[in-house]
Amino acid sequence: MTAAVTLISGDGIGPQISDAAVRVLEAAGAEVDWDHQLAGMAAIERGFGPLPDETFDSICASKVALKGPLTTPIGEGFRSINVALRKMFDLYANVRPAKTLLSGGRYNDIDIVVIRENTEGLYVGVEHFIGMEKDPQAAAESVMIVTRYGAERIVRFAFEYAIANGRRKVTLVHKANILKCTQALFLDAGRRVAADYEGRVEFEDRIVDNTAMQLVMDPYQFDIIVTENMFGDILSDEASGLIGGLGLAPGANIGKDAAIFEAVHGSAPDIAGQGIANPSALILAGCMLFDHVGQSEVAARTREALVSALGSDVRTRDLGGTATTQEFADKIIGELK
Ligand code: NAI
Ligand code: MG
Repeated sequence: MTAAVTLISGDGIGPQISDAAVRVLEAAGAEVDWDHQLAGMAAIERGFGPLPDETFDSICASKVALKGPLTTPIGEGFRSINVALRKMFDLYANVRPAKTLLSGGRYNDIDIVVIRENTEGLYVGVEHFIGMEKDPQAAAESVMIVTRYGAERIVRFAFEYAIANGRRKVTLVHKANILKCTQALFLDAGRRVAADYEGRVEFEDRIVDNTAMQLVMDPYQFDIIVTENMFGDILSDEASGLIGGLGLAPGANIGKDAAIFEAVHGSAPDIAGQGIANPSALILAGCMLFDHVGQSEVAARTREALVSALGSDVRTRDLGGTATTQEFADKIIGELK
């Protein structure tokens, strides 16, 4: 059945990698009706707000989106539209697999999934400056919010994901040694949920700073990492570094009623407009999307062709090659079986 999918091509490298992803996925046989919508800077440049009503309505109707990266102004300006979308659609689970597709890097055979709580923590946006004397920004305060409900549902999601995907272990990552309320609640809620899965999936907990070090020293000890919002943001970029970088790391934002698929990386302003970005992460996010909408054969065919293309000498610059985004997309299409 044809899938209706909202397509937000995004900012920076977004339009080029989205174009590549659409071409590859369609060539792989995706039965899809793309509803092209705007968000972020691209929407603002066309005279809309950063999240137009039409875009929101489209996702409400389709319940599935493929989204390019959206630029968020640093330290000022509008708040992240990525975070806003996750909150609006209650996309509480951010699933970010880091799996080796290209051997010969620092590590081989990495297969880690970071599952990040996507709606709470420091990303709730409860923050303000505090003025003192003549300085309106003499201090600043951000509030980390953790609810038992939110912590339980993300840890349960991680265990259910482990069972559905035949995984062996869930590592809960926290900072409960220092943050004795928020992080202790996350850990306590997680331990309670873990008890329901005893004997089926192994469980352990780790402090986040140690985890960051262990990921580099011995990544093979990890299988699924479940953690709160900011730690998940950081550790998922780190995990992508184990498999060749952000150009290869996809992600899914999953809620009860909707799902948005995107790359882990951002809009890469340093290489935007040059036509050299690696489209693989967004293509792999597209694969996660087609698995989600019941077109797994499209996802499998695309992944297989992508792995073949990565194994060839046609690669983008981030992977040591000289191919453009379009040349690499053409190579993948040529490898489709
Ligand atoms: P970034 O992920 O855009 O870039 C980090 C580094 O990785 C850069 O050197 C970039 O060139 C490289 N890179 C990223 N994707 C690549 C690709 N596909 N191919 C080759 N190289 C790639 O992170 P940065 O620079 O910190 O953020 C830029 C903007 O993106 C910010 O406005 C940020 O808020 C936004 N952002 C958006 C996200 C989203 O839409 N979900 C996620 C992360 C950041
Ligand atoms: Mg990030």
